[in-house]
Amino acid sequence: MNNCIVFTNWKMNKTLTETEEFFKKLVELHGDRRGLELIMCIPSLYIGSVASLCRGSSIRVGSENIYPGNWGAYTGEISAPMLASVGCEVALIGHSERRKYFHEDDELVGRKLKSALEHGIFPIVCIGETREERDAGRMFSVLERQVETCFQCLTTENRLHIAYEPRWAIGTGVIPEYPEIEEAHRFIREEIVKRYGTAFSTNISLLYGGSVSPENSFAICSLEHVDGVGYGGCSLDLDCLSRGIEESIRAFRDNHPLPPA
Ligand code: PGA
Repeated sequence: MNNCIVFTNWKMNKTLTETEEFFKKLVELHGDRRGLELIMCIPSLYIGSVASLCRGSSIRVGSENIYPGNWGAYTGEISAPMLASVGCEVALIGHSERRKYFHEDDELVGRKLKSALEHGIFPIVCIGETREERDAGRMFSVLERQVETCFQCLTTENRLHIAYEPRWAIGTGVIPEYPEIEEAHRFIREEIVKRYGTAFSTNISLLYGGSVSPENSFAICSLEHVDGVGYGGCSLDLDCLSRGIEESIRAFRDNHPLPPA
């Protein structure tokens, strides 16, 4: 992997004016950073406007969700072709808040993934265990089931990022021990290799999400099998996100020196 990957999840926050002000500054600060793949997942409503502001920069704009069908009588839903038509390049799929509050299961996540791939939207698929599952010693079996069910549609031509986001770490300020993050990522990597082979696996980036902050991102990004991180709450504040980006890049550079320009 040549770039440090940073994605955001704004969830249900900010007005259009606040969003546009944020992005004008973000493009100035991080619109053309070598060694950084910055993916801003934001409320779908603002993607069209933000995609225009980001045009010409290296920032990719993404949605936080996607509907698995194309068109039809699905009141209030937004499909992959609709998102693509306003400049959306990436979609967050299977986030734990979608699973928790909207009862999304692995099978539905798999259908959303298929739809994104069919319409050229780059997927970031979130997987991860609950606190109860971890405490019951079921973390590995949960991750195995999620990899098996969510990724059924994949062919070896597909590209995606997988975000390991333990549900109990999201929005809590509590993260797993660093070796535990590494252990989960190694397990997911092995599952991908087992099912799809080593060549395919090298095209998949594994990202960590859940209470990532400027204080812990250097350590997390330095772990083996961690190709980047996702910022939720921190990403709503430009200063916090910027500091997080710097830490992520610093960790990545320490491990992967950039080739000459
Ligand atoms: P958090 O959210 O950083 O606020 O924990 C992460 C996420 O929802 O992906």
